[in-house]
Amino acid sequence: MKKRPLIAGNWKMYKTASEAVTLVQTLKAAAHTVSNVTIVICPPFTALSEVSKVLNDTSIDLGAQNMYCAPEGAFTGEISPTMLKDTGCRYVILGHSERRQYFKEDDILIHEKVKTALKYSLIPIVCVGETLTARDAKKHFDVVKTQCDESIGCLEKEDIARVIIAYEPVWAIGTGKTATPDQAEQMHSYIRRLLNERYSQEVGSRIPILYGGSVKPDNTKSLMEKPNIDGALVGGASLKAESFAQIIQEAQQSYEAENPS
Ligand code: PGA
Repeated sequence: MKKRPLIAGNWKMYKTASEAVTLVQTLKAAAHTVSNVTIVICPPFTALSEVSKVLNDTSIDLGAQNMYCAPEGAFTGEISPTMLKDTGCRYVILGHSERRQYFKEDDILIHEKVKTALKYSLIPIVCVGETLTARDAKKHFDVVKTQCDESIGCLEKEDIARVIIAYEPVWAIGTGKTATPDQAEQMHSYIRRLLNERYSQEVGSRIPILYGGSVKPDNTKSLMEKPNIDGALVGGASLKAESFAQIIQEAQQSYEAENPS
């Protein structure tokens, strides 16, 4: 039995609040017929409140793209878990490779953020993934192992059970180069094994592992068919209602094909 897929849209630094509302209204209409996919959208902070109002009477969930690891304080320019909760967020993306690369976030900080998100009842979507240099040097498993160990390695059992992992190879993000379904599955099953060893088989089997990196309507099915791919974190293709809705439909069809009712 496969898990119900989770498809999350990471809008990055795109869309003003009014543009976001227009996009989400179209999406809401398109998502009407979807019952077997958990849909999460992660607009920029400035659009969260407005988008939240539009999502009020839908099953689409709201997430943020980042968060600081304190509930409040003198941290100019940062945003706290309580502020995110206040806008209606249920999820938060943490440790995205763009945060790691451009804003120098490391696994120690990401670990603090994960713990804080959990403490304030936000579901963290923790991103891991190797660069092309690391993959070419055949160090991709080592890199991802270190990221997993350091960012989510020593959580309490009830906390790890609420974490979502997103495997996003850096070389596949925004480049149009998707990892092949086999490459993605290889890493997903590796991450699953790490979780089984560090926590337990029961925990490992329950944690959703999403794939991210140039997910498009035409590659969704082949990725979703893999046993350890439980959903997708979608960047570029989530900025258009049509392509994001198609990805959701593909995920729903793959799920239904494997779990006939
Ligand atoms: P992409 O981005 O789908 O545009 O490659 C994915 C991500 O960065 O989460």
